[in-house]
Amino acid sequence: MNSEHESEHLVLGIETSCDETAAAVVRRDAHGHGTVVSNVVRSQFEAHAQYGGVVPEIAARAHVEIVDAIVSTALKDAGVDLPGLTGVAATAGPGLIGGVMVGLVTGKALAFASGKPFIGVNHLEGHALTAGLTDNIRPPYLLLLVSGGHTQTLVVRDVGAYQRLGTTVDDALGEAFDKTAKLLGLGAPGGPAVAAAALEGNPKRFAFPRPMKGRDVPHFSFAGLKTAVRQQAQKLVPLGVQDIADICASFEQAVTDAVADRVACAMRLYEEVVGTEARTLVVAGGVAANVRLKARLETLVDAEDYSLIVAPPALCTDNAAMIAWAGAERFARGEADDYSIPARARWPLDADAAAAVGPKAKA
Ligand code: KG4
Ligand code: ZN
Repeated sequence: MNSEHESEHLVLGIETSCDETAAAVVRRDAHGHGTVVSNVVRSQFEAHAQYGGVVPEIAARAHVEIVDAIVSTALKDAGVDLPGLTGVAATAGPGLIGGVMVGLVTGKALAFASGKPFIGVNHLEGHALTAGLTDNIRPPYLLLLVSGGHTQTLVVRDVGAYQRLGTTVDDALGEAFDKTAKLLGLGAPGGPAVAAAALEGNPKRFAFPRPMKGRDVPHFSFAGLKTAVRQQAQKLVPLGVQDIADICASFEQAVTDAVADRVACAMRLYEEVVGTEARTLVVAGGVAANVRLKARLETLVDAEDYSLIVAPPALCTDNAAMIAWAGAERFARGEADDYSIPARARWPLDADAAAAVGPKAKA
């Protein structure tokens, strides 16, 4: 790394790629240590609740209405003004394109007005690098990225260098939680609702399938499990509170077992790529907040002699601190974007990865 860039960075981050409007200020010191100085997240749950899912046009409009106020609050909370920053970062994709454009244009405008460098961040890179901010973990590490739109294992070789190992051939893990919640009438956001109901349930009552278990390619699949949950729920109608709790607990048990098996498979491939020295598993994305998943992965890393890093829940789900941090990491490497960087609906971390075969396979 070029020593002229080894100075402190104080970066404003903006995140608007889904249904959270977020802004944060993060400091990266000359040794590469990060601090969250402010972190403001405004969820749009209520705006979308009556539609049973995120409506892109409503999301974009809601971002427009509050992004300026959220940025002002983040700067105020941090006790810094625009001239005091060293750079501005905003999510440039992937995500709902209207929302991405709102945050991206806002970030560019603030950077332009204050004469600061700008960087357009890949939202997934934000999740991927959060462990550097929270735990000062440096690459290489094995990343399990589990969010509402993505379920992947990746080798994080360096900032900007990602090799995808596994991905889902149908639903994302967060999507499976959200659909299960919807099916059971638990409301949104689905993941936390299923997890809460599962606390009172019996994880052994229903033997749901563990999709892909034992396969030697580390891909994921959750569609069959979703069908099994639906069929079970139909058999039990009318569902009692205990039935719902038992379905949720058994569903969580099945997905966490399946994920642990897929991660164990990814570990073998990871070791082929980077060797057996850097045995760290980092879990990122909204579903990393799931307590049962974390417990299951703790058992796995103990058996495999890896260490496990899971960010605190507020930095697992969508936030702008991770965007500011990814920006700071890029600025520290002397990088910046010009204002022509576009908003992108689709932007894989590893553009060279072969597509997984499946009905709704994701890159
Ligand atoms: O990373 P994220 O905040 O947004 C995306 O980029 O998708 O992830 C959101 C996903 C949703 O599907 C939500 O239901 C899930 O993460 N989630 C959880 C939990 N908290 C959030 N899933 C299971 N257990 C949780 N505690
Ligand atoms: Zn996310």
